[in-house]
Amino acid sequence: MILRVLDLSKKYQHVDGIVDALNNVSFDVYQGDFVTITGPSGSGKTTLLLTFAGLIKSTSGVILFRDFRIDKASDSQLSAFRKNNVGFVMQSFALIPYLTAIENVMLPLAIFNQPKEQKYNSALELLQLVGLDNRKNHLPKELSAGQQQRVAIARALVNNPSLILADEPTGNLDPSLSSDILNLLKKINLEKKVTMVMVTHSPMAAEYGNVNIRLDDGLCSKIERENVITQK
Ligand SMILES: Nc1ncnc2c1ncn2[C@@H]1O[C@H](COP(=O)(O)OP(=O)(O)OP(=O)(O)O)[C@@H](O)[C@H]1O
Ligand SMILES: [Mg+2]
Repeated sequence: MILRVLDLSKKYQHVDGIVDALNNVSFDVYQGDFVTITGPSGSGKTTLLLTFAGLIKSTSGVILFRDFRIDKASDSQLSAFRKNNVGFVMQSFALIPYLTAIENVMLPLAIFNQPKEQKYNSALELLQLVGLDNRKNHLPKELSAGQQQRVAIARALVNNPSLILADEPTGNLDPSLSSDILNLLKKINLEKKVTMVMVTHSPMAAEYGNVNIRLDDGLCSKIERENVITQK
């Protein structure tokens, strides 16, 4: 078990009233799972994903990463947890415009105490994995949308995370580029045994998962699980 969510609820306090974004959501994720989270706009998908990273504080319930209580952790414990365990892939790629592809991939390593050459080599290896080593000195604006997302995926992997959290990673891409990115995420999931949790609107993208979670109005209305790859 890598993630356990137990009776998780999140209420946002807003001047216009309280929003019940998550209501008693419970499920388990095993190492090597590819989890997809689908549901209508406003159903709580991003909220759920960000609570896994400790970026949103839950109101009640338990979230465990292995034996680490995410819901109870301090900010410094959460920073260390993210640094060592989590990679993020976002819909808008979130690359730094004035840094080259390889500099963007190296960025998360800034907080690690390693020789620059080692950081460069790790980043280059990941650009090779995503098929972009020949674009390493390009700025984001000199890359296509699909290439930018591949750089973002390489960046998400550079701290060697066991968990990748992806929010609509194909939301800004056309269908054929979307399949490329989904196949890349699947390859990373299978070859590197990185657990994926991916929010998506697309039924086609959801088919890449072996665990499919459906949210409706903050309620987990369906969980389907097939072929767990490796259980720990
Ligand atoms: N910071 C906030 N303060 C108050 N309400 C919020 C806040 N963030 C989100 N919400 C509300 O919580 C609910 C869930 O939002 P969330 O962003 O998790 O939805 P989502 O499923 O990711 O939607 P989408 O598919 O449009 O990205 C929504 O009704 C939203 O309006
Ligand atoms: Mg969202």
